[in-house]
Amino acid sequence: MTEETSQFGRLKMLNHMPTLKSIGRGEKVPPITLELDPDDRCNHSCYFCYYADDGTGARTQQSLDKDIMMHTLKESAELGIKAVTFTGGGEPLMNPHTPEAMIYARELGMDVGLVTNGSLFNETSIDAVIQSCQFVRISLDGGSEESHATVHGIKNPRYGFTTIMKNLETLAARKGEGKEDLVVGLGYLVDTNNIASALALAEQARAIGLDYVQFRPLYFDGKPEWTAPWESAQRTLAKAKGLETDSFKVHIITDRADEITMREKPYDSCLAHALLAIVGATGKAYFCSPFRGLEKAEIGDLREQSLSAIWYGSKRMELLESIEVDKCPNCRFQTHNKVLYDFTGKSDEQIDASVDLSTVSPLHKNQI
Ligand SMILES: C[S@@+](CC[C@H](N)C(=O)[O-])C[C@H]1O[C@@H](n2cnc3c(N)ncnc32)[C@H](O)[C@@H]1O
Ligand code: SF4
Repeated sequence: MTEETSQFGRLKMLNHMPTLKSIGRGEKVPPITLELDPDDRCNHSCYFCYYADDGTGARTQQSLDKDIMMHTLKESAELGIKAVTFTGGGEPLMNPHTPEAMIYARELGMDVGLVTNGSLFNETSIDAVIQSCQFVRISLDGGSEESHATVHGIKNPRYGFTTIMKNLETLAARKGEGKEDLVVGLGYLVDTNNIASALALAEQARAIGLDYVQFRPLYFDGKPEWTAPWESAQRTLAKAKGLETDSFKVHIITDRADEITMREKPYDSCLAHALLAIVGATGKAYFCSPFRGLEKAEIGDLREQSLSAIWYGSKRMELLESIEVDKCPNCRFQTHNKVLYDFTGKSDEQIDASVDLSTVSPLHKNQI
């Protein structure tokens, strides 16, 4: 399995051919995935966090109101959204209503995933994960108490590495009690402080019974030095890759660094934004993932409008007109855009003949 054929491959979008063809024809379609931020607050202080106060300035310290969260989920299912990723913003488990919301999203028939720093799990949230989630990705970014504390800016050891590893053991044990299809993995953004402990961490993850570790480059606009350690880490990551078994994978997301840093794009407008809806802890919907929390990227307010009215309304289209794609920071949708542009102006038959669906992973296909 290559990365492109894993659940992290961009071509996973090809599981949604009717939607892609419609987008290529300029038709309005519901998004496939909702990325929902239950909270903008966080108990960690990762120096690199896109959404931190000293980063883009986007973090608002708001917590999504329970009624708005539940209402948004109901409207999402009605709109035809197929999956919800609970993420941030800040830390999704800072919001006490997240466990209930995950269960509700599942009851509404949507797939559910959770991206978390892993430090706030308790019996209620672990039960909710078991009941509702297809996947949980814990952003660990460190392989020892020290490296994790440095990278995640841990001020209270209660939220640190040891606690998170215990939570992972509990999750792995609960998964083993009849929830084998739950995929539990670790995210690991590579930096100078954590590369020395990356291999040991992969060994630990395998021993605990987790499904994968996913290594990715860091990216922050104007800080190329934060991405630079990625290159020199490749030998260590290759060793970690050697730990793979049938049930434990090491994903090295090599195409991410190229994609996020490449500014000049072979297209001048974005089609891929139609694949995902973003709702922030402010109760507002945003044009695209990297812009969450930014006032200039708001497309509507869930406290005042329905999700459907926002999605099919004029604000989204107006913003689309004004966005200069070459200036988009950290775009992870370049392959998506290239594929969608390739479909424009072609008949369904021509499109079908141009794609090979045989290697496309169906795993978590609704989480774009
Ligand atoms: C902002 S966090 C919110 C959810 C949760 N608190 C967590 O850390 O997983 C969502 C994802 O963004 C990633 N992220 C944040 N800043 C990043 C950066 N500068 N470069 C790459 N990924 C980043 C995190 O690693 C995490 O996987
Ligand atoms: S744990 Fe997540 S939200 Fe919190 S500071 Fe780190 S990346 Fe940002």
